[in-house]
Amino acid sequence: MKILVTGGLGFIGSHTVVELQNEGFDVVVIDDLSNAEERVVDGIAAITGKKPHFEKIDLREKAAVQQFFQKHDDVSGVIHFAASKAVGESVENPLLYYENNVASLVYLLQELQKKPEANFIFSSSCTVYGQAEKMPISENAPVQPAMSPYGNTKQVGEEIIHDVAKASAINAILLRYFNPVGAHESANIGELPLGVPQNLVPFITQTAIGLREQLSVFGDDYNTPDGTCVRDYIHVVDLAKAHVMALKRLVDKANAEKVEVFNLGTGKGSSVLEVVHAFEKATGQKLNYKIVPKRPGDVTEAYADTTKANNVLGWKSELTLEDALASAWKWEQKVRGKE
Ligand code: WQD
Repeated sequence: MKILVTGGLGFIGSHTVVELQNEGFDVVVIDDLSNAEERVVDGIAAITGKKPHFEKIDLREKAAVQQFFQKHDDVSGVIHFAASKAVGESVENPLLYYENNVASLVYLLQELQKKPEANFIFSSSCTVYGQAEKMPISENAPVQPAMSPYGNTKQVGEEIIHDVAKASAINAILLRYFNPVGAHESANIGELPLGVPQNLVPFITQTAIGLREQLSVFGDDYNTPDGTCVRDYIHVVDLAKAHVMALKRLVDKANAEKVEVFNLGTGKGSSVLEVVHAFEKATGQKLNYKIVPKRPGDVTEAYADTTKANNVLGWKSELTLEDALASAWKWEQKVRGKE
């Protein structure tokens, strides 16, 4: 059973390759290395003992995608992570996002629909819910008008998959991630944000290690218990394991519909300040931070109703926020050679 993982050297992709290999799947990785480094292949091999076959391919090149599937005609499933994901950048350069995130999805699906049957898992995001009315957020919550071109590429991607699955032998699962954080306990793989991190946890670890002067907490006058935004921070290893469960469900033809949607989170909300204090507790590192004005586009709170993933996918997160923060810190120290 050969599985293609696109974006397989990225943060979530690399952790998913590890879990797929642990479960005996034969994995081939495509990555364009725009937001990942080839040495991640060695990090994966250090954990599993097996170097995944890697090909550097830009999925915007339709001919390159066609050639890949001609060469690897035994690929029966795809887990598609490859996409640009910086919300702010997508506002400045929307066409970069529509080309990279949507055109590449079309080229992949065009190859899969040629097969007698194919399984497709799509990396989606809770961002499609915008500011949901009701907490925790279930899969029935309405998809809101996107707040950024990045978010819209996830919504459009889901719609494309629904349409193509209806018209082909493709079976799909859409996984809507909440906030992935942490790193593999071995510190052989982790998050490698390019430039100044946009996300909270890598900014925290870079501040703690001295790369950043101070963490800016974007607003403390939201309608939440401590005034800072609430999110559902899910350990990336738990998230990776959910992808294996989803693939097994498709392979075992256990999915009830052609396209199924699952929210992947812990089911627990944590505020920014709670994350800061949990980091200090988990690592013994005092964090230098200050409260600054709100960041445009941030929703007040978002955390998952995990009932469907627990009951239908048979998956539940097991690791805690402290586990994630401690592993993120261990990875940061290793990357900066300060173990
Ligand atoms: C979390 C909280 C910030 C940085 C985004 C995307 C989502 C997904 C995950 C790709 C917010 C606060 C952050 C900082 C801060 N991306 N914060 N200071 O915005 O919930 O989700 O990343 O798939 O699609 O929308 O994650 O980590 O950026 O922010 O105070 O330096 O931390 O205001 O409340 P977000 P985040």
